Amino acid sequence: MNTSPQLPIRIPAFRPTLGETELEATRQVFESNWLGVGKTTDKFEAELQEYLGASHVIAVSSGTAALHLALQVLHLSAGDEVIVPSMTFVAPVQMILAAGARPVFCEVDPFTLNMDPEDVARRLGPRTRALLPVHYGGYACDMGRLGLLARAHRLPIIEDAAHAFGSESAGRKVGATGELTCFSFDPIKNITCGEGGAVATYNDEHAREIRLRRNLGIRNESWNNLEMARSWMYSIEAPGYRYAMPNLNAAIGIAQLQRAELFLQRKRQVTRLYDDSFRNLEGTVLIRKSIDESFPFSYVIRVLDGERDALMAYLRVRQIGSMVQFIPNHLQPQFACGNVRLPLTEQLYREIITLPLFASITDMEVQEVIDAVIGFFAAG
Ligand SMILES: Cc1ncc(COP(=O)(O)O)c(C=O)c1O
Repeated sequence: MNTSPQLPIRIPAFRPTLGETELEATRQVFESNWLGVGKTTDKFEAELQEYLGASHVIAVSSGTAALHLALQVLHLSAGDEVIVPSMTFVAPVQMILAAGARPVFCEVDPFTLNMDPEDVARRLGPRTRALLPVHYGGYACDMGRLGLLARAHRLPIIEDAAHAFGSESAGRKVGATGELTCFSFDPIKNITCGEGGAVATYNDEHAREIRLRRNLGIRNESWNNLEMARSWMYSIEAPGYRYAMPNLNAAIGIAQLQRAELFLQRKRQVTRLYDDSFRNLEGTVLIRKSIDESFPFSYVIRVLDGERDALMAYLRVRQIGSMVQFIPNHLQPQFACGNVRLPLTEQLYREIITLPLFASITDMEVQEVIDAVIGFFAAG
């Protein structure tokens, strides 16, 4: 086995695009002496609401917290089932369990890596209580077909839009019209807050309950009460968590939101360049996508003939990072799904590779990635 130390990665799969704007925004919060949840959080929420065209947006401490709260307001109980693709990050699966329900894993479409509505239909049962599609890579799921299915069975949809901040579906931003849409602003997402997330909803009651639950069930947030005589007074009106987004993180988010359009244009441009370069590359399959409607999060291709790991190693030697997103959840020991088989998902798991894509990637870095991938296949 080769144990020689590897050279550091020069072109990572993801890198946050941060600069003076974000630094200045955090400096202002430092100077205000109010780092925790407060008026900057309120401002970020208002700006997100406007950007998305959503009725309510509630900013929280992570995408995982957003999913937890969105699932909680459905008031699920033991034995209830939520259908979710196995090919996703572990967060939605853990949060389904945390909300007291059971994940039922479904297949994804091999050309989009998004939830396959036909497979969902096959897995619906008397205990199904919700659908949890994930907009993989930033490309919206087929919400028309999933919506029909959900309405026919009177099921709510929780959209995991961790990857899809700023993307559109049927001419509206993801999150503008959905019952419960969850975003992540972790360090590698389309925009980041350092760590953060948000829930968007059209439902007033869901919004009220999520606001309570994100703040330990406390009704009146203290920063709104500062001028009142009894500013120490609060009332607990729901179960809750410490999930609110602090001012410090919201300030980074506000600065990133100002640059979101630039990030989106650059990520679209690089995605088109990659697609044009790899379209006729034998031994690969491109992911089908609507770039013009989307804020691409990641760039993923399928590598056939068992060559994926060799390509990753080839790139690694050239100091280029890559990832596998994701390890199917039904294969994880914690979820004890020994008898569940999802052949398509398992095949895709062996084929997918995430190549470098981030707003600050340079033209030279993009060309290096393209040359390395093409070089790998040319070398046979
Ligand atoms: C599909 C998906 N859902 C949810 C999350 C959780 O978001 P966060 O990291 O902000 O908790 C992630 C994070 O990578 C994700 O990829």
